[in-house]
Amino acid sequence: MRKVDGGLRAAVLFFGDRIIIEVMRYFALLVLCAVANAQELPQGKGKELVEKICSVCHATDLVASTRATRKVWEGTVEEMYGRGATSTEAEKAQILDYLSKYLAK
Ligand code: HEC
Repeated sequence: MRKVDGGLRAAVLFFGDRIIIEVMRYFALLVLCAVANAQELPQGKGKELVEKICSVCHATDLVASTRATRKVWEGTVEEMYGRGATSTEAEKAQILDYLSKYLAK
């Protein structure tokens, strides 16, 4: 019997070594899903700003996976600045332009 760490030991005794392969398959699948779901921000003017300003509290996936009208983005941006996002007004305007143009509904 191969030496196995911690909680897996009981499972291995019960199911045999196959459980290791199943567990590895499970994690491989998780990683694949994470990669497939990772959303990239579209290229465009203002992308770097969004990466800089909007990634402070959460991943930019959250932004990249959202589609909204300009009006709705305006509300979201205001909400995020209310939560503590900071930049100059000019940068904020550019972020709104980027979102409205490249992540439009
Ligand atoms: C000060 C922290 C902070 C910053 C900076 C920030 N956000 Fe958020 N954002 C949050 C929190 C907190 C949530 C809600 C938590 C969650 O759903 O994971 C959120 C959620 C969101 C969501 C999901 C929908 C929603 O309204 O809840 C979007 C879209 C979003 N943020 C966009 C942005 C954009 C665009 C920027 C840059 C202008 C930004 N965020 C910057 C804190 C922040």
